[in-house]
Amino acid sequence: MAGMKAPPRLQSLVEEGLIDTVVRQLMSGKEAMVYVVRCGDETRCAKIYKEADQRSFRQAVDYTENRKVKNTRQARAMAKGTKFGRQASEAAWQSAEVDALYRLADAGVRVPQPHNFCDGVLLMELVTDAHGDAAPRLNDVDFTPEQARRHHATLITEVIRMLCAGIVHGDLSEFNILLAEDGPVIIDLPQAVDAAGNNHASRMLLRDVANLRNFFGRFAPDLLTIDYGNEMWDLYQRGVLYPETVLTGHFRRKTGPVDVGGVLREIDDASAEEAARRMRMAQS
Ligand SMILES: Nc1ncnc2c1ncn2[C@@H]1O[C@H](COP(=O)(O)OP(=O)(O)O)[C@@H](O)[C@H]1O
Ligand SMILES: [Mg+2]
Repeated sequence: MAGMKAPPRLQSLVEEGLIDTVVRQLMSGKEAMVYVVRCGDETRCAKIYKEADQRSFRQAVDYTENRKVKNTRQARAMAKGTKFGRQASEAAWQSAEVDALYRLADAGVRVPQPHNFCDGVLLMELVTDAHGDAAPRLNDVDFTPEQARRHHATLITEVIRMLCAGIVHGDLSEFNILLAEDGPVIIDLPQAVDAAGNNHASRMLLRDVANLRNFFGRFAPDLLTIDYGNEMWDLYQRGVLYPETVLTGHFRRKTGPVDVGGVLREIDDASAEEAARRMRMAQS
C-alpha cells in the first residue's frame, strides 16, 4: 500500500514502530481526526484527539477568555494553573476512551479492539464492511423494517451489557455506531461515564436509548412506542439487571414522583365510563 506522509501527530508512533505507514485520512470529526494505518500486515485505525481548544466552540471561548487576564502576576499564575488543570483533564478525557474500550471488550460488547494509546493517539481495530473497506455509520445506511428491528434489538442488548459493566456511553446515536460485516459496532467513547458514580448517568442513558429508538423508528415505526430506557435503569438501580435480561419494553413506574396528569386522565376516563354506564341504564 502506497500511503501518505505521516501527519506530525503520528510521526512519533512511526518512529516507535507502532505504525508502519499512514494510508489515508478517514474522517475529521468534531473531536478527532481518524487515519487508516498499516501495522505489520494489519490495517488499523489511528484516532488523534484534537486539542481541547479545537474541540468545540464553547471550549474555544473559554480558552481565549483565559488569555485575556495574563497581565498581573496573579493572573499569570491563574492562567498557568488553569493550563495545568486543563492538561490534566485533557489527558483524563483522552484516556477515558481507551479505558472504556478495554472494559467493554472484556464485557463482550462489540467495540473496536484497542491496540495502543500513545501521545494522544488511540490505535485500534479498523471496523470494516464486507469488502474490507471502512464501515459506514448507521446514519449512512437505509434499513428494511425487519433489519431495523433486528439491529435495534442487538443494540439494546449491547447497552444492557455496557450498563452491567458500569458504563453509560453518553453520546450514542446513528453517528457513533458503525455497520460492520458482522453487525453494529459502537464507537466514540471519550465522554463515557461511570453509571454508578455520575449524577447525570440516568439522563444520559435515557437519551442514548431514545436516540436508538428514534433512529430505527424511522424505518420501523412500531419501535416508537417502546420504552426500554426507564425499564433498564430501574432494573440496574435495583441491582437486578443482567447481560441476559430480556426487557418487556413497557415500563410502569412503581415508585418515585406521582404522575399527576396521568392520575387526572384516569379519573376523567373513569367518570366518562360512569356517565356512559348511566346513559345506557337510562336507555334500557
Ligand atoms: N475503529 C474505527 N473503524 C472505522 N472507522 C472509524 C473507527 N473509529 C472512527 N471511525 C470513523 O471516524 C469517525 C470519527 O470518529 P469518532 O470516534 O466518532 O470521533 P469524533 O469525536 O470525531 O466523532 C467516525 O464517524 C467513523 O466514520
Ligand atoms: Mg463521533
